[in-house]
Amino acid sequence: MITLALSKGRIFDETLPLLAVAGIEVSEDPEKSRKLILATSRPEVRVVLVRASDVPTYVQYGGADLGVTGLDVLLEHGNQGLYQPLDLRIAACRLSVAVRADYDYASAVRQGSRIKVATKYVGLAREFFASKGVHVDLIKLYGSMELAPLTGLADAIVDLVSTGNTLKANHLVEVERIMDISARLVVNQAALKLKQAPIRHIIDAFASAIPSA
Ligand code: ATP
Ligand code: PRP
Ligand code: MG
Repeated sequence: MITLALSKGRIFDETLPLLAVAGIEVSEDPEKSRKLILATSRPEVRVVLVRASDVPTYVQYGGADLGVTGLDVLLEHGNQGLYQPLDLRIAACRLSVAVRADYDYASAVRQGSRIKVATKYVGLAREFFASKGVHVDLIKLYGSMELAPLTGLADAIVDLVSTGNTLKANHLVEVERIMDISARLVVNQAALKLKQAPIRHIIDAFASAIPSA
């Protein structure tokens, strides 16, 4: 049995076409079912649905043989013990710093002020600001980061941006791009050795189906 960990929403939706190329069709729509284990058209392959931030954990400890996860989640988790063979080029976005339009980020940085930064990505944010020599107080949030500067909880946020619509709708502006993000295939290293042929088949099929740059 091969177990693939996916999260509901864009990761699931954008992985389906890659699975199709590997000859794997998921038998149920996760939006219409409460099931967490989904069978596929291939009896030896199943999909487990986990929170996006739990995909690396499942794969690292062997709860799943492989998984699809954002580079943001992967770097924040730490990629110990995970074989990372492919950039799938799906779920593309960027990790950025954003502030209220009336907050002068550049002069706060220049003056060496302490900046209050709210984010789900405390590890990545700490590393980024440390590398710039900017002093920050980090505030851990689990979602709706855009609200933090609007309520006075923080001066800035570190969050994902794709179209920029969410920032715009909340009167925030992007002031720095930290890194480009896309989804990665991650594989449990022991599973790769023990179930080499079926896992190789999936890696090769995914590789052949990656959207071009
Ligand atoms: P949860 O709902 O469990 O808090 P989440 O919000 O991280 O999880 P998704 O929104 O499905 O879950 O995001 C999964 C991955 O997709 C992210 O880790 C990131 O790599 C990517 N992603 C997030 N937002 C966008 C976006 N607006 N456009 C493109 N890719 C995105
Ligand atoms: C993500 C991310 C941003 C938004 C950016 O939220 O957390 O809020 O997308 O995308 P945009 O630049 O195209 O507006 P998501 O849609 O995943 O909602 P969530 O709060 O449920 O995670
Ligand atoms: Mg999201």
